[in-house]
Amino acid sequence: MTATLIQPLTVAEAIESRRSIRKFVQEPINEGDLREILRLAGLAPSAWNAQTWRFAVVQNPEIKAQLQAAAYGQPQIGSAPAVIVVYSDMEDTLNTVEDTAHPGMGEQGRAGQRQTFDGAFGGQDVAQRGQWGLSQANIAFGFLMLAARSLGYDTVPMLGFEPQKVRELLGLPEHVQFAGLLPIGKRAEDGFPHHRHSVERVVKFY
Ligand SMILES: Cc1cc2nc3c(=O)[nH]c(=O)nc-3n(C[C@H](O)[C@H](O)[C@H](O)COP(=O)(O)O)c2cc1C
Repeated sequence: MTATLIQPLTVAEAIESRRSIRKFVQEPINEGDLREILRLAGLAPSAWNAQTWRFAVVQNPEIKAQLQAAAYGQPQIGSAPAVIVVYSDMEDTLNTVEDTAHPGMGEQGRAGQRQTFDGAFGGQDVAQRGQWGLSQANIAFGFLMLAARSLGYDTVPMLGFEPQKVRELLGLPEHVQFAGLLPIGKRAEDGFPHHRHSVERVVKFY
């Protein structure tokens, strides 16, 4: 399915109009739009271009029902036509690290990328380096929400779930770490207006 032709919102418009939506219009997501949203999320930056993020898109109603059960029954999972599970796979990243070296860097760059990662993570255990991988995947999680909003979709980020159950349900290895679940679709409610600290409350200027 080709993407819906709409004028994307600007970044500022997407940020302003994004809010957590927990009730969705009951219609499938256009596949072209979904792919474009995921492509845009993958343009997020990451240290050494590691791109530790991975996405599992759940649209199958039975799997979605089990995902909802793993998320303490939170109804937004059942309401959304799709749920994107965003996780980081640092072990896959390390096993395929040459793939992330920019082609312009040539063979030397690929070897350098291997050395860099071996040097940085060789002495760390799986959990430690997994935490680093997650910090990169969280950036893509943010990009994903804004890319969705920009193309006319709504989301709600979620960390209220049992990670081990989600790993088992999706057949993911033990070491992966979750940035969150992201139910996505078109809004069927207004959500809550923003309630945020003032700039003065959270910023120090030096
Ligand atoms: C990392 C993260 C985890 C969250 N987990 C949940 C969740 O499990 N269930 C839920 O209903 N909302 C969840 N939220 C949504 C927050 O409640 C919401 O973002 C916050 O109240 C601000 O509202 P807004 O998103 O409408 O601006 C989560 C948000 C973030 C960023």
